[in-house]
Amino acid sequence: MKIDAVRNEYNFPGISRRNIAKNPFEQFEKWMEDVLDSEEKEPTAITLSTLGSDGFPRSRIVLLKFFDENGFVFFTNYNSEKGKAIEENQAVGLHFYWSSFERQIHISGFAEKTSREISEKYFHSRPVESQISAWASEQSEVIPSREYLEKRFAKFSKQFDGERPPLPPDWGGYRVVPQKIEFWQGRVNRLHDRILYEKTENGWDIKRLAP
Ligand SMILES: Cc1cc2nc3c(=O)[nH]c(=O)nc-3n(C[C@H](O)[C@H](O)[C@H](O)COP(=O)(O)O)c2cc1C
Repeated sequence: MKIDAVRNEYNFPGISRRNIAKNPFEQFEKWMEDVLDSEEKEPTAITLSTLGSDGFPRSRIVLLKFFDENGFVFFTNYNSEKGKAIEENQAVGLHFYWSSFERQIHISGFAEKTSREISEKYFHSRPVESQISAWASEQSEVIPSREYLEKRFAKFSKQFDGERPPLPPDWGGYRVVPQKIEFWQGRVNRLHDRILYEKTENGWDIKRLAP
């Protein structure tokens, strides 16, 4: 297996402080539009990193469901490992990687729970089976078997038969309010472009980083 021989050249046009949007949310929107129009399989996949109380960072994929100038929103179980980590330390990392565009975005920010209203609205927009799964899964807990999980699914399917499952009390959204957003564009000869926005009292400072 010749892993060290894998070598891609990056020939996309660059980004600079001159051609990038003044506001990072506008820039994010442009790049998100590009991936949504492409064949990228999971365009909204985010690698979410938290710092656990055991001192180990942990990363996992979640899906971006909304974003605006207030932040980036994903949904999960508040009692999951990530939920417990955020309870202790709101500082999180969000990472997007789109291989077909040779682009990555890194966001450092603080996670806060969304309103119940926002969580309700999103929860009920999901297929009913996914709503039942949210009830059935005690996310990140050790469970005895697959059968145990399927029995819980059957139990909640019966309980909510013919009605809309309510929003589980420990399920909802987090909004990540960004402090820093870095846009990375792969370029020729490994001289990649990295443009960093840092939040200040008056808006956003824009800097270029060495690749
Ligand atoms: C493509 C993909 C999308 C996912 N989306 C979510 C999501 O939006 N919310 C979520 O809680 N877990 C999602 N997961 C599962 C998580 O990666 C993770 O396994 C789960 O949330 C438990 O993580 P934790 O134990 O670190 O809290 C997704 C996994 C994949 C591969």
